[in-house]
Amino acid sequence: MNKSLRRAVIAGNWKMNNTRPAATTLIGELLSLVSGAGCDVIACVPFTALESALAATGGSNLKIGAQNCHWAASGAFTGEISAPMLAELGIGHVIIGHSERRQYFGETDQTVNTRLRAALDAGLTAILCVGETLDQREQNITEEICALQTKVALAGVSEHELKRIIIAYEPVWAIGTGKTATAQQAGEACGFIRSVVAGLYSQTTADTLTIQYGGSMNAGNAAELLAMPDIDGGLIGGASLKAADFAAIVKAASL
Ligand code: PGA
Repeated sequence: MNKSLRRAVIAGNWKMNNTRPAATTLIGELLSLVSGAGCDVIACVPFTALESALAATGGSNLKIGAQNCHWAASGAFTGEISAPMLAELGIGHVIIGHSERRQYFGETDQTVNTRLRAALDAGLTAILCVGETLDQREQNITEEICALQTKVALAGVSEHELKRIIIAYEPVWAIGTGKTATAQQAGEACGFIRSVVAGLYSQTTADTLTIQYGGSMNAGNAAELLAMPDIDGGLIGGASLKAADFAAIVKAASL
């Protein structure tokens, strides 16, 4: 299809793992392994490790991202971090709407939309996560859920701003479970999300949108998933914590 129009992006989501020394060590291991990557490579690290990770990656092709940001620029929001705070640090990417945020921290489609807005306003590129639960897949409403989450998240986002958005299709039942969506299931859902974006904006814009798959992607299954016409990369949790595994996925996306 139009895969050549899109940049492949492999992003690690470290979740709540790695102290500053551990982050520096893992990044040190990664740097030489991914230096020749033919795709964009991002590590989304905990807030506390952002500065160390930036220092360790300076001048390299490994970009550092955060895992969340608040919808306000500043204010009485104890425990939160704003998008301008990330931008000031030199961070370029932020994950928005991860299913663990939705599941454990009360994120709704509306807060995902406002956080996405804040990320864009601060000049960040957002990795927007959407995806259905197992119940929803069994009820055959995967497409409805993905369409709803995508449409609400993108409300108020201009066609131009979409250039700073990556969508990650992450079926909740595949995250951290070792259960991967089949390449066909993942490819179909990513293709469907692209059609939703085409309906909201234009086919041309949808054709240039990077859509990742996430959910137990690993060194063994990455090549098959990434070969699907609508899967342009991956959002990697568990396998991003091991340099060799993450590098193997980067390699599979670089072919
Ligand atoms: P996983 O996590 O690769 O460990 O399933 C993916 C994610 O949550 O982004």
